Amino acid sequence: MSTPARTSTARAFPADLTFGVATAAFQIEGASHTDGRTDSIWDAFCRVPGAVINGDDGSVACDHYHRYAEDVALMAELGVQSYRFSTSWARIRPDGGPVNQRGLDFYRRLVDELLAHGIRPWLTLYHWDLPQAIEEQGGWAARDTAERFRDYALDVNAALGDRVDVWTTLNEPWCAAFLGYLAGAHAPGRQETDAALAAGHHLMLGHGLAVQALREQRADLTLGCTLNFTVAEPLDPGSEDDRDAARRIDGQMNRFFLDPIVRGAYPEDVLADLDGLGLERVVRDGDLAVISTPIDALGVNYYHGESVSTRPPAEPFGGEAPTDRQTRSPFPAAEVFSHSQGLPTTAMGWEIQPDGLAALLTRLHTDYTGPAGIALWVTENGAAMDDRVGPDGQVEDGDREAFLLAHLDAVAGVIEAGVPVHGYFYWSLLDNFEWAWGYAKRFGLVRVDYDTQRRTPKRSARRYAEVIATRRLPD
Ligand code: NOJ
Repeated sequence: MSTPARTSTARAFPADLTFGVATAAFQIEGASHTDGRTDSIWDAFCRVPGAVINGDDGSVACDHYHRYAEDVALMAELGVQSYRFSTSWARIRPDGGPVNQRGLDFYRRLVDELLAHGIRPWLTLYHWDLPQAIEEQGGWAARDTAERFRDYALDVNAALGDRVDVWTTLNEPWCAAFLGYLAGAHAPGRQETDAALAAGHHLMLGHGLAVQALREQRADLTLGCTLNFTVAEPLDPGSEDDRDAARRIDGQMNRFFLDPIVRGAYPEDVLADLDGLGLERVVRDGDLAVISTPIDALGVNYYHGESVSTRPPAEPFGGEAPTDRQTRSPFPAAEVFSHSQGLPTTAMGWEIQPDGLAALLTRLHTDYTGPAGIALWVTENGAAMDDRVGPDGQVEDGDREAFLLAHLDAVAGVIEAGVPVHGYFYWSLLDNFEWAWGYAKRFGLVRVDYDTQRRTPKRSARRYAEVIATRRLPD
């Protein structure tokens, strides 16, 4: 595997660019039934035979619930300025019921530890772990889940609002809605088109309600949402079908969520693509005004771009989950397939395309965040690689190091070109539970030995620490 050469001439990062690392509750915490926590949809999904590779689950994960102090110490060694983590709804309102103070206490301890080390907490309220009891009452397909999300946001804010000043509502609602309720590859594993569109809309309604409610609590909080973006190009630019395939994927993955939040409307072409599939039945008057409540920060999760076509490739290619490899568009009658662009890939099979990050940030700034006065943050970027542990116990992950440097170079390049990027969070601090892939895929800067829970920083971690300390890319 080799990574594209770095291209920008920029070498130094601005003094106010934040470097961070990111994780999510279900992927690292473990302690899944400790101190009052009950099942989330992911606990239940992991019990479905064949849903997760190797039958892995989140019961122990990285045992971060008990080892958070060690993990914060690792972050301090890296020198990161901010830590993006999520709170678990199932820990804080088990079964969607009353507030569980023991669950909140864990996040109080974590935030105190971060602040004691000078690391700014960046809190995400929803990273896919809906209480299973709420799913059994309809999940995100039910409108009142959006209101329950707002109430949960207020509970977390009552406990932590004095010490956490950056709040993002949702992480990647595309995955939560469309992998969870349409492709069935993520929890809750449903395959229902109308439920998926309802879930997508209600997730965003929950986002808007939470932003409104949090803003009322404290006007000075930084509030936002994190979306997953792709950069879709037609396989054959001369083919009208392929150009339309790229438009569709851009519509479903990027603009379906971005336009309502930033522009207060679903894009016309996406509405036409989805006509008759059920979205119109769940959107009520006033919803889009709630969803487009002004935000301060847009979180950008970027992993790869893609070349798309209405024609399937000879071999399955791409995909976000092991069972989602056939089509990029899970909607009926709109099959779109990813094709190889001939680029090197990570262990996920995702092509390594740092110029896609540069193109994406530039487009978002020009068309969305710049005009709306919203700050742009890279809230996730990272790579799973086939790490090998040397005889000395070390991981010489030069491939991840090259990936990191190439994407940091892309960030430096766009900043130099005038796109204000406020921060970069590497995904992830630790190897962790990679959803339907279980523990088989490792994204961490720090290796986790799941038998002993021993943490070992990899070569990429040392390189990231050096970039952070010098605020420069190596020559
Ligand atoms: C996006 C998700 O937010 C995160 O949970 C996941 O592990 C990474 N992408 C890698 O797939």
